[in-house]
Amino acid sequence: MAFEHIDEQLQARRGASLFRERRCIEAAEPRRINVDGHWYLNFSSNDYLGLAQSDALKQAAADAAATQGVGSGASPLVSGHSRSHKELEDYLCEALGRDRVLLFNSGFSANQALIQTLVPKDANVIADRLCHASMLDGALASGARLKRYTHNDMEHLSRLLSQSEGDCLVMTEGVFSMDGDQAPIKDILRLCQRHQALAFVDDAHGFGVLGAQGLGSAELHGADQASLPLLMATFGKAIGTSGAFAATTEMFYDYLVNFARHYIYSTAMSPLMAAITLRSLRLVREESWRREKLQQNIQLFKTLSAEHGLSLMPSDTAIQPLLVGEADRALTCAEDLRQAGFFLVAIRPPTVPDGQSRLRVTLSAAHQGEDIKQLVQAIARKAQDGA
Ligand SMILES: Cc1ncc(COP(=O)(O)O)c(C=O)c1O
Repeated sequence: MAFEHIDEQLQARRGASLFRERRCIEAAEPRRINVDGHWYLNFSSNDYLGLAQSDALKQAAADAAATQGVGSGASPLVSGHSRSHKELEDYLCEALGRDRVLLFNSGFSANQALIQTLVPKDANVIADRLCHASMLDGALASGARLKRYTHNDMEHLSRLLSQSEGDCLVMTEGVFSMDGDQAPIKDILRLCQRHQALAFVDDAHGFGVLGAQGLGSAELHGADQASLPLLMATFGKAIGTSGAFAATTEMFYDYLVNFARHYIYSTAMSPLMAAITLRSLRLVREESWRREKLQQNIQLFKTLSAEHGLSLMPSDTAIQPLLVGEADRALTCAEDLRQAGFFLVAIRPPTVPDGQSRLRVTLSAAHQGEDIKQLVQAIARKAQDGA
């Protein structure tokens, strides 16, 4: 039979408890979701500030739909780049102190476009071992030599930089999506400067959450455009909408607009989404109470977990993974917690390394203290039962 590998690989995934299936969310509230008619407290969302289902953004959507319409109708270089895209880009340029911002339909395409377009074949891409799949795919598509350093290991990065000749792009996440820890941005930028390498940070999980104004890892670490010329973040997480942006220099921006195939040959982000995103960014920047509430929730989760003897991975962010080990055990734990009313997804290989399946708890400003108490008690009961 043709394409036999497809059936073989599906069977292999089923056999190893690694098969993926979607669940249809029937309804969503800021802290709860309804799946198959049952309501669960949601601890598996990246909507860290509770904005995705907020009245403020629902109203912004209704207002924007009435004035902007819904679809962009064309790619940005044809007739899809509208006033609301420009306003969002201009706002981000000012907020982040960058020359130019370019919008993408997703963080996945932004990462691929940036790396694949800017990095030539004869260059080096040096990536943290835990970088997101979209960054690695971008590096592979560029044809450059891809080297990976041990997670957050600056000695290893320094060694790889010393051994690399020619142009080098160093890439990291600001907050690591599956572990929740943060990159030592200042050290990375210092090494890049010393070796004249180009630094690229994917701040999907830091943007909106870190920094006094929620402008992410760059704000927190004082990384300006000169030291960090390539910054990417998504809108689909703390900002509560969807899409992504790249913030960069005039020259890189011009190059991307002229050569980035993901940008040129794709229908522009909906102008409606651009308008709602701008509204959300203003809220995020001007109202710090959501970030403060999130920090309180993170602290509460960590304190209660310690009291119940649960061992967490070293993370101070909204991503608080509990290492379980084997994939089938992680699936059982997630199912048991669902039975108890908590929606918590088991993260398994190949998203994480073999033997490191985990329950990835994500906290939100929308959670109440009682939600977190109940979750920790339920996890502690499972741990005591030896599940
Ligand atoms: C670190 C990181 N980068 C990029 C992406 C992709 O962003 P998007 O969901 O907007 O495609 C994700 C997750 O979705 C992510 O976790």
